[in-house]
Amino acid sequence: MSESLVIKGFDGARKLAGSVRVTGAKNAALKAIAGTILFRDEVTLSNIPEINDVERMFELLSLLGANVAQKKRGVYEVLVPKTLSTTMTPEIAKRFRGSVVATGPILARFGRVSFPHPGGCLIGSRPIDLFIEGFKNMGATVHLKDSVYTVTAPEGGLRGATFFLKHQSVTVTETFMMAATLAKGTTVIKNAAMEPEIEDLANFLNTCGAKISGHGTPTITIRGGKLLSGKGHTYKTMPDRIDAGSFLVLGALAAKELTITDCNPLHLEALIEALRTAGVHIETTKNTIVVRAGNKAYTGVGIKTHEYPGFPTDLQAPMVIFLTQAEGESMVFETIFEGRLNYVEALSSMGASIVTMDPHRVLVRGTTSLKGRNLKSPDLRAGLAFVIAAVIAKGESVIHNVDTTIDRGYEDIEDRLRAIGVEVERVRDQSAS
Ligand code: EPZ
Repeated sequence: MSESLVIKGFDGARKLAGSVRVTGAKNAALKAIAGTILFRDEVTLSNIPEINDVERMFELLSLLGANVAQKKRGVYEVLVPKTLSTTMTPEIAKRFRGSVVATGPILARFGRVSFPHPGGCLIGSRPIDLFIEGFKNMGATVHLKDSVYTVTAPEGGLRGATFFLKHQSVTVTETFMMAATLAKGTTVIKNAAMEPEIEDLANFLNTCGAKISGHGTPTITIRGGKLLSGKGHTYKTMPDRIDAGSFLVLGALAAKELTITDCNPLHLEALIEALRTAGVHIETTKNTIVVRAGNKAYTGVGIKTHEYPGFPTDLQAPMVIFLTQAEGESMVFETIFEGRLNYVEALSSMGASIVTMDPHRVLVRGTTSLKGRNLKSPDLRAGLAFVIAAVIAKGESVIHNVDTTIDRGYEDIEDRLRAIGVEVERVRDQSAS
């Protein structure tokens, strides 16, 4: 039985107002949870978003033998025992890409890990060749049988190594940054990803005894050492910049004035710059963003997604919704994932004028009025973009399979939408999705 969101469109009227609190970042929390495997004692994690992927990650750790205790909403204590199973449960690991980062810590600490090709969204093939090459680079041997990889560390444990990543993959960078904290000797990761979630993770691991430097730059150096200790430290998940950016786009299109709190505008400079260029009135403080309606039409702006600090691929879909309401032609170039424009066909069925130039580029013509439709979100980010489109459309929209897409990454989505004025209900789908 899947679940849908039924949304009443405001046909372009600016009816939203008030403030919305940004949650802890999914793509920071998942890695901090995996990082608890590197600790010899209990680790306290706070501001953890209550979302499906996080539940899956805790379930994965529990099934391996870790003790996971929820202290209260968003606060968990994890204790990984001296012996842990090293076989990741395929049914869970396949459901989300984030599970792959646990392979590094498990291998580094216990000398072995076996895992299926990790899952994720329909946004791209999501290869793992860089993980396999990286494990071998640190001295491990890799066997593949029945699409399950079994990786074994050399005698004496993983050896520090130098990497040059042919893609600035975030999860590859994080997996080897964590594995290297327990390896023998020094590891250097060149062409590393620079996402703020990586910097945040490294800062936390360093307060607990790791020796990581260069995080947030293209070259990260890690000096291997002992197990870490969480004693006296509580990890606080950083704000989710994609959650914040999604509400910022919604506010720009449908609010008289919307305040976004508990966020970090410094992590959203590419989006804020693009929206201001299009004519959106945005004011920021250290941890809030205020977006206000202006009296002029927005103008189109070209977007090219890029590794951080460039325009985030996870905000590409919400931005395309915005561009359907901006005057003129806007070229959108999705450079990271080959399947991340799949949703534009459904958007066109709502009335958007979008020309697909090639699998990585679309031309958006605005402004067009959108009509409510029955929509099926291909991934969690396009799912949230459909929510934005449904709010500005004329008539009612139904967004299906919310439980397997939007709920993966957005906490209490309908409550937070309703609190700022969106007319939304969650319903159980009679029909199979
Ligand atoms: C992280 O994925 C995020 N996921 C993604 O968020 C996010 O879109 C992406 O970073 C970019 O910011 C998590 O943190 C869990 P990849 P990442 O699969 O970097 C190539 C969301 O919606 N590659 O590594 O781990 C790959 O083909 C998700 O929250 C290889 O070639 O993504 C792609 O071109 C979606 N071989 C690039 O790297 C490999 O072994 C990044 O892909 C691994 C990756």
